[in-house]
Amino acid sequence: MKKIGIKGTGSVVPERVIPNSYFEKIVDTTDEWILTRTGIQTRRMIKPGQGLSDLATGASEKALEMAGLPPEKLDMIIVGTSTADMLSPSAGCIIQHRLGAKKAVAFDINAACPGFIYGLAVAQKFMQDGSCRHALVVGGEIVSNRIDYKDRATCVLFGDGAGAVVLGHSSRNGDGEILSVDIQSDGDLWKLIHVPGGGSRIPASQEMLEEGLQYLKMQGNEVFKYAVRTMVEAAHSAMKSEGITSEEIDWFIPHQANIRIMDTVAERLRIPKEKVIITVHKYGNTSAASIPTALDEGVRGGQIRRGDLILATSFGAGLTWGAALFRY
Ligand code: ACO
Repeated sequence: MKKIGIKGTGSVVPERVIPNSYFEKIVDTTDEWILTRTGIQTRRMIKPGQGLSDLATGASEKALEMAGLPPEKLDMIIVGTSTADMLSPSAGCIIQHRLGAKKAVAFDINAACPGFIYGLAVAQKFMQDGSCRHALVVGGEIVSNRIDYKDRATCVLFGDGAGAVVLGHSSRNGDGEILSVDIQSDGDLWKLIHVPGGGSRIPASQEMLEEGLQYLKMQGNEVFKYAVRTMVEAAHSAMKSEGITSEEIDWFIPHQANIRIMDTVAERLRIPKEKVIITVHKYGNTSAASIPTALDEGVRGGQIRRGDLILATSFGAGLTWGAALFRY
């Protein structure tokens, strides 16, 4: 089976910075509550009229540039998102069009926050036998227009963003390699995080909008418990399949949902804080964008170097969860 490595990374976040003080004016909350309960100071939000593909195309162009790969050479585009520009077609097809990636097959994976990790797992399967040579895996989300700005328990948590990686076959030493990807789900827990309206069961209507069914509903403290347990389990499973222990990990990239969840997961995995890549204070929870954005910032910021061993883990609506272990 062929080895697969990351050839380039890219990310884009919107320019508009929203500080915690913004929410003090619209719901019963404080900067202090948000900071101490979540670690979030600011998040980024798109301007009206922007959509997921604006950020995701930019992130993809940066990743392609770093990889030195023209878009026409892409065989596959996989987008982890649950907030595509439109209900149909997929964000993948819109991004394919905008990049001019004529040869690629493009599609989305709706797996909420671990969507990027799910994308890595699917790309790995198609690339291992050599049938797909170059894949673009994107994780992107526009959560800012899925949240209810009257619900203090959710509106303070999220932000928008997109990150991308270009994958290619690794032939030389130092090329990097995806070692293992573990993905899982438990649909029995779907009610813990869901957006009830706008789908086929409750289509868009005046009544649906009045009831606020277009907004994300979440049982935050229940999700918290599952988040810790599932991320730890998936990380252990990814490491175990490669016979790697957490002491060998150079960088840990947990889903950037809440600093308390991230700290607890790192502690249970016995990974010291200095090895954890953190962006949640700047961007909040950007769902599927969280891991590829943090990875790109780690690479471009000079923290993550070629050859480093990286463990990433995420969880989200579904419930879905997963982990990826790779040498950059
Ligand atoms: N400001 C002030 N008080 C608040 C706020 C707020 N913004 N939000 C909730 N509270 C209150 C609650 O009403 C509650 O008050 P009460 O005790 O009077 O009833 C109190 O704070 C405690 O509420 P909890 O929900 O128990 O607070 P917790 O410490 O669990 O923090 C949080 C809430 C931040 C949502 C946390 O549970 C969390 O991060 N959960 C995980 C969420 C997550 O990561 N989801 C990711 C998946 S998202 C996806 O897939 C798209």
